[in-house]
Amino acid sequence: MNQTTQSGNGSNVVVTGVSSGIGQETARCLAQKGYRVFGSVRKRADGKPLEDELGDKFHTLVFDVCDKDSLERSSDIVSEIVKDDGINAIVNNAGLALFGPIELLDDDAFEHIIKVNLLGTRFVTNAFLPLLRIGNREDQRSKIINISSLSGIFNTPMNGAYCISKHAMESLGEIYRRELFGEHIDVVSIRSGPIQSEIWRKNIDSTNAYEGTVYEKMAKKTHKIMEHAKKSALPPSVIAELALDIIEGRKKKLSYHIGEGARISQILSSSLMPKRWADKLIHNALNKKNQNTQ
Ligand SMILES: NC(=O)c1ccc[n+]([C@@H]2O[C@H](COP(=O)([O-])OP(=O)(O)OC[C@H]3O[C@@H](n4cnc5c(N)ncnc54)[C@H](OP(=O)(O)O)[C@@H]3O)[C@@H](O)[C@H]2O)c1
Repeated sequence: MNQTTQSGNGSNVVVTGVSSGIGQETARCLAQKGYRVFGSVRKRADGKPLEDELGDKFHTLVFDVCDKDSLERSSDIVSEIVKDDGINAIVNNAGLALFGPIELLDDDAFEHIIKVNLLGTRFVTNAFLPLLRIGNREDQRSKIINISSLSGIFNTPMNGAYCISKHAMESLGEIYRRELFGEHIDVVSIRSGPIQSEIWRKNIDSTNAYEGTVYEKMAKKTHKIMEHAKKSALPPSVIAELALDIIEGRKKKLSYHIGEGARISQILSSSLMPKRWADKLIHNALNKKNQNTQ
């Protein structure tokens, strides 16, 4: 394991969805700083690479974020290990995307993304909150970090289910923060644009499913935009290091907007931007002929 400054010695963190992408890099970054990381996967074998790499700084938890029984068992396992130290942060990272027009999306797929990105975030937070309370100290306040998205503040066509799930995750985070205010447990949202991860491979071809429908042109354009986004995506270490800075109190804001599209998403979702202007700009971007997105 890479030896760096061990700022996290004695601190415990839960990170969900560490089989790949942002979750995996966050687990790695925190463990390398000396945190004991409890990282969740759905298949036990997916925890093996991080166990091999990080040694006793990494513990695999196996759960689906929608499975409350597994979550309860996992929280008992963590409690047994950390005892009176509790945990210092939960990084709610596990999630998925789903592309397609809201009218034609498969109902089960729509329900599933809401379950995972919204209900799953709540189930995980509730399962580990008692341990977070134990770990909350005046010199290092406990944090809940939600890996949201720019789609949590800005609605884009062909991305509706994901936008809805991340907007709801934003509300959930704000409500937790206000309800936990008196306990000094902070909830911070990371709203990111494109990051290199498996999420692109899992979703990029789904836009092909709308050939022959009224959404064909929009779907093709979305595919091109996604290809471009994938190429310009930032490495997941950007999010991992930000999470570390939030946990260690160097970054104190309630939300962070990261990567390509951050500025324009903030402008277009601002209350100062007339909604009809935003509608028109988005429509033009998705429907102009021969527009080069590269
Ligand atoms: N990549 C981006 O451009 C980007 C931008 C903004 C926000 N985000 C957010 O970042 C988070 C991580 O995504 P990523 O980009 O790193 O994608 P990823 O590489 O696909 O990782 C997603 C992780 O979530 C896990 N997961 C999915 N469904 C789950 C469930 N029901 N229960 C437990 N774990 C589950 C996956 O586990 P399996 O391997 O078992 O499926 C995987 O470990 C997501 O919340 C995503 O919305 C990503």
